Amino acid sequence: MTQNIKGFSKLSKEEKVDWIVKTYFSTPETAKGIVSQYWNSNESLQKLHDEFIENTITNFYLPYGVAPNFIINNKSYTVPMAIEESSVVAAASKAAKFWGERGGFKATVINTEKIGQVHFLFNGNSEKLQSFFNAIKPKFFTETENFTKNMQKRGGGILDIELRNKTEELDNYYQLHATFNTKDSMGANFINTCLEQFAKTLENEAQDFLDFTENEKNIQIIMSILSNYVPNCVVRAEVSCPVSQMSEDASIDAKEFAEKFVNAVKIAEIEPYRAVTHNKGIMNGVDAVVLATGNDFRAVEAGIHAYASKTGQYRSLSHAKIEDDIFTFWIEIPLALGTIGGLTSLHPLVKFSLEMLGNPSAEDLMKIVAVTGLVQNFAAVRSLTTTGIQQGHMKMHINNILNQHKASKEEKVQVMEYFKNATISHSLVVDYLEGLRK
Ligand code: MEV
Repeated sequence: MTQNIKGFSKLSKEEKVDWIVKTYFSTPETAKGIVSQYWNSNESLQKLHDEFIENTITNFYLPYGVAPNFIINNKSYTVPMAIEESSVVAAASKAAKFWGERGGFKATVINTEKIGQVHFLFNGNSEKLQSFFNAIKPKFFTETENFTKNMQKRGGGILDIELRNKTEELDNYYQLHATFNTKDSMGANFINTCLEQFAKTLENEAQDFLDFTENEKNIQIIMSILSNYVPNCVVRAEVSCPVSQMSEDASIDAKEFAEKFVNAVKIAEIEPYRAVTHNKGIMNGVDAVVLATGNDFRAVEAGIHAYASKTGQYRSLSHAKIEDDIFTFWIEIPLALGTIGGLTSLHPLVKFSLEMLGNPSAEDLMKIVAVTGLVQNFAAVRSLTTTGIQQGHMKMHINNILNQHKASKEEKVQVMEYFKNATISHSLVVDYLEGLRK
C-alpha cells in the first residue's frame, strides 16, 4: 500500500486513524484500540485538545505530579510537575523539605527584557543607513501603536530599537535589534507582530528617503522574529545554611559532604561533558514546571543552554561555595515565561496549576521554576556525591519494571521487600520476579 496520501488534513479524526492503522500496522484493530483508549469521553474537552494542533489523532499522556513544601521568599508553594521520569518528583519534594527546614529559598528576578530582530540586507552606505534609521525611529513606535496600546496599559511595550551593523560577519547584513517588556505574557505574538510592522515601516520609509540611491532604497527583509536567547530576562534562586547543617543523616559528615558538593559543582563549571548532564538534572525540574504551567519548554531549553555557553564554553548553570562556614548554592537562568495568554487560559490543567500556585505573575513563576531547577540539581548532586544515583533511581524504577512484567500486588510487595537491601538492576529485578513465579 502506498504510504503517501493527498488531503490527509481534510479527513475526519476517525478517517485519519483508519488510514494510519491500515497503512502502518499489522493488526489495525489493536492499533486503533491503543489510539482510541486515550480519547476523552468528555467531548468538549477532547475537542479543545484536538484543536490545539493539526492532525490530532489522540492524546499523549504524561504524569502530572506535585511537589509540596517549597518555601520561596517565605511563601509556601506546592509545585506542579509534568514529567515521565521516575524519581524526579520524589527528589524535588525531598530536597525542598530539606531546604524548607533551613530557611527556604530566596529568589530574585534580575531583569525581564525580551528581544526580537528584523534581519535585513542593505547594499549601500552604512552611514546613510544610520541617518535614515535615526530619522525614522519614532515611526517604529507610532506605526505599532495599535498593538502596543494594551501592552502599555499593563506597563510593558517596546523598550528600544537599535540598528546593528553585521556586515563584517555577512555582506550587507544589518539588524533592527529591539527590546521589549511583555509583563505577564511570554510575548511571542506581541513581539513578532511588532517586528513584522517594523519591517514594513523600514521597507516603506526607505522608498521616500531622499539621500538613498535607487539601489539603497531596496532594503531586503530576510526575516522578522523574536529571539529565544534572553540573557537579560534572568532569575536567580539561592539557598544557604551553616555547613554544620548540611547533613540530616548521621552516616554523612556535614563538612565532608558540603566540600564534596562544592567540588562537584566546580567540575560542572569547567568540564562540558559533566556540565551537560549537570544541567540536564536542572532541566528535569525546570521543564516539568514549564510544561505543567503551559509554557514553551523548547524556547526555555534553547535559551537556557545558550546562556550556559555565554562564556564561549558550555558550563554549569548553578554554582556553590563555602565562605565563613556558610554553604551557598545558587542558580541563574534566563526564563521567558507567561502566566497570561497562550495555553494559560485554554488548557484546564494549566489553569489548575496556576491557581495552585496562587495565580503567580510571570516574575513569580520565573522564581518558582528557577527554584525547582535548583532543588532538582541539589537532589541529583547530593545523591551522586553520597549514595550514588542508582539507589534512588532504581527504587523508583522497580515499580516501572514490575508494571512492565505485569507483577501482581503480592509480587510487588515481595520484590520491594527483597530489594530494600539488595543491589538493584533491571535484570536482577526480572530474575527475582521470575524466581518467585517458578
Ligand atoms: C538524570 O535524569 C539526571 C542526573 O543525571 C543529573 C546529574 O547527573 O546531575 C542525575
